[in-house]
Amino acid sequence: MALDLSVRSTDLSALKTPLLALLLPAGGTVPAGLKSLDDAMGGALSTALGRGDFRGARDETLHLQGTRGGVERVLLVGMGKPTTLGLALRRAAGIAGRQAHRLGTGQVSAWTPRIDRAGAEAIGVGLNLGSWEYTDLRTPPAPEERRAPLTAATLIAPNAATLRGGIAAATALAAGYDVTRRLAMMPGNVCTPDVLADTARDVAKRHRMGITVLGRKEMEKEGMGSFLSVAQGTAQEPRLVAMEYRRGRKDAKPLVLVGKGLCFDTGGISIKPAERMEFMKFDMCGAAAVIGAMEAIARLGLKTNVIGVFGATTNMPSGTAVKPGDVVRASTGKTIEVINTDAEGRLVLADVLAWVKRYDPEAVVDAATLTGACVIALGNTATGALGNNDRLVREVVSASMTAGEPAWQLPLWDEYRELIKSDVADLRNTGGRAAGTITAALFLKEFADFPWVHLDVAGTAYSETDLVMIPRGPTGVPMGTFVQFVRGRTR
Ligand code: BES
Ligand code: MN
Ligand code: ZN
Repeated sequence: MALDLSVRSTDLSALKTPLLALLLPAGGTVPAGLKSLDDAMGGALSTALGRGDFRGARDETLHLQGTRGGVERVLLVGMGKPTTLGLALRRAAGIAGRQAHRLGTGQVSAWTPRIDRAGAEAIGVGLNLGSWEYTDLRTPPAPEERRAPLTAATLIAPNAATLRGGIAAATALAAGYDVTRRLAMMPGNVCTPDVLADTARDVAKRHRMGITVLGRKEMEKEGMGSFLSVAQGTAQEPRLVAMEYRRGRKDAKPLVLVGKGLCFDTGGISIKPAERMEFMKFDMCGAAAVIGAMEAIARLGLKTNVIGVFGATTNMPSGTAVKPGDVVRASTGKTIEVINTDAEGRLVLADVLAWVKRYDPEAVVDAATLTGACVIALGNTATGALGNNDRLVREVVSASMTAGEPAWQLPLWDEYRELIKSDVADLRNTGGRAAGTITAALFLKEFADFPWVHLDVAGTAYSETDLVMIPRGPTGVPMGTFVQFVRGRTR
């Protein structure tokens, strides 16, 4: 659940809060705005800074005792020397949110020396990201062991009125991240293609969007032999879902967001090793980001046309599963030799990308946990970005930076096209180990007949280890990039 965010102007010495987080840049002395609080604390802040106990380095924290009945605890969080203030605030607020959630204070207040509307948004998003936790499948601890979950956060600033918009935007984004991360965290036996479709229906209904849901039969009619070849190994009904948000000019072409929704990826007949296979429940993070982005876009009330689309199924080995060497035909008529059944995401997305052509898109951005090669190339830090229009790629990369979800462009040159030529069909679904992210994207490019960007989020949509501001598990990436891209195209 998203935090109840608010903003208030008050002198810190008059504030009552169980925890005040001070987000401070590197170096120097106690900022003027903290003078009265420092006095109330008997000079504890100036002492800590004066001794060098706290220097404001990035990610540095110091917990101090506050005042009885006022600011009960103080958490100093360092931002280093920020190059981008928004990102530094988001990160520091993430650390503060995480720590507040751990302490069980229930509420947190936050303060920083310099703050504008964008900064308020960044702090609101950070507090939400850091304090998020998935508890649906756990038995609650005994009352005496229970800690209060963080449910409310208040930004303390002199210019409260000018920050309200930022706080409202943060609340909308937080709702989007919550949808995305909750779906992602659900195990494969809970989050089926039908659950993804039902969640999309719920979002669509609450925000008056149109929705289309296709099943196996409808996809057969469309000739989606590529998508269906993946779905033929599972008893679950595959789903192709489109959510239509239309608040822009009637004649304006829509932006289309597309997501890979593999509710679990065993690899199929080309089965994956057992070790760490459980993480393949996260193979639907692209679809989850699309659903979350639609939630956030609607809450932001963006006056534009956006279609959110995803293809959902489960990649299983079975008596009916597709086999290496099989040749399948996509809805465009192109034939594909399935060399490796574990390269299933591109088979699903091929038919989904071809299908969204019916919307006559202004631009299409897809997100997919598509290749392990992308994790090797960029690690868990950057999303891979590739596309058929360099200006559009740059626009999406720039949106990703603003959103605090950095992406980096990889080349999509025709030179690599050799690698996905087949002896028997028009294409093969793998190009070998070399340039795996690029050959996967080149495969998708064959089906993207519009300005298009592909985001490979295999390394960034979830983390197997704890990150600084986000505990291990789903990060929500690229929900924020989707929303920022759409915002950048609105008015
Ligand atoms: N879902 C995986 C990619 C993946 C790997 C995501 C690691 C997150 C972490 C995808 O379906 C896959 O299995 N790709 C193969 C492609 C190969 C067979 C050409 C891969 O990357 O190994
Ligand atoms: Mn796979
Ligand atoms: Zn996969």
